[in-house]
Amino acid sequence: MSDESEAEGPPIRTTIEDGVETFEATIQGERIQWDKGLTYSRHLQTDQLLNSQTPVSDKPDEMLFIIMHQTMELWIKLMLHEVRSAIKSLREDDLDRAGKTLDRTATIMRHMIHSWEVLATLTPHDFLTFRGFLRKASGFQSQQYRELEFLLGLKRADLILVHNGDDAATTALHAALNAPSLYDEVLGALSRGGAAIPAEKLNRDWSQPYEACEKIEQAWHAIYTAPDQNWPLYALGEKVTALEYYFQEWRFKHMKTVARVIGHKHGTGGSSGVSYLVKALDLQFFPELWSMRTRMSAPKEGGDYGNGCPV
Ligand code: HEM
Repeated sequence: MSDESEAEGPPIRTTIEDGVETFEATIQGERIQWDKGLTYSRHLQTDQLLNSQTPVSDKPDEMLFIIMHQTMELWIKLMLHEVRSAIKSLREDDLDRAGKTLDRTATIMRHMIHSWEVLATLTPHDFLTFRGFLRKASGFQSQQYRELEFLLGLKRADLILVHNGDDAATTALHAALNAPSLYDEVLGALSRGGAAIPAEKLNRDWSQPYEACEKIEQAWHAIYTAPDQNWPLYALGEKVTALEYYFQEWRFKHMKTVARVIGHKHGTGGSSGVSYLVKALDLQFFPELWSMRTRMSAPKEGGDYGNGCPV
């Protein structure tokens, strides 16, 4: 094929479809179509997205740092969306739909956990080339991350303080703080499903940190001891447990990556750094779902080996 014909390319057929100028051409043996209405870049706002990486240094490794944070922020945005949708399904007692949404949320978290591997290629030297340019900016100031913690049930109001001066962030965080969390909604669904949940847990001041309660541990224990009789609630319990399990793994990988990159230096946000992140490994969203496991015991089975083991 000559240069000239390559430049011209295959013929394009133009029609009007749904009032929109529409094109068709055979490209690489495929019948390809596009139109002037909704294009890929218009739908996904790729111009805006791909022009949103603005390094504050001239150091080449800063791009990795920016894109890692931005991709995680996008995944957190999707998790917030999915958890809100799960809450809606729980309020409607549609546990199947809530379960599907929670599965997706946990899968996003697992994907994020794997993505730490990319950031782990940033050596201490790479990071130090641009760390000073970041000044006090830190993930500690991530509005969405804090919103997700609130939404899942970890209500720590004092953390809103770092958004002082950002009215939109402060308002959004207060709204999440004052609303029932995923765990509050799970307990509501449990109660409507017949579990013995104390009234004071079903109608409490949502802005206050959730406090673990013996009666709720007993309610989960009853469900987990007889899964066949309580299957929908049992499955729900396992799905929210998975969410916390992967959230903790995310925290762990973050802490380990940070240790690999900055050792025990203080964070740009001012905290003790790795020591602060290690403390976060003990935080819990759904405490009784974990404590109840210790309480569980196996039914007594097997032979009487008083006269010696038969095998
Ligand atoms: C080399 C890369 C990174 C380093 C050295 C780092 C370091 C730190 C440190 C030291 C803290 C404690 C707060 C402070 O004093 O600054 C922190 C908090 C945080 N970072 Fe990172 N980080 C890195 C990457 C990321 C990425 C990619 C994300 C994704 C969004 C992220 C999200 C967060 C969040 C949400 C917190 C707050 C955690 C909490 O309050 O429990 N970090 N980071």
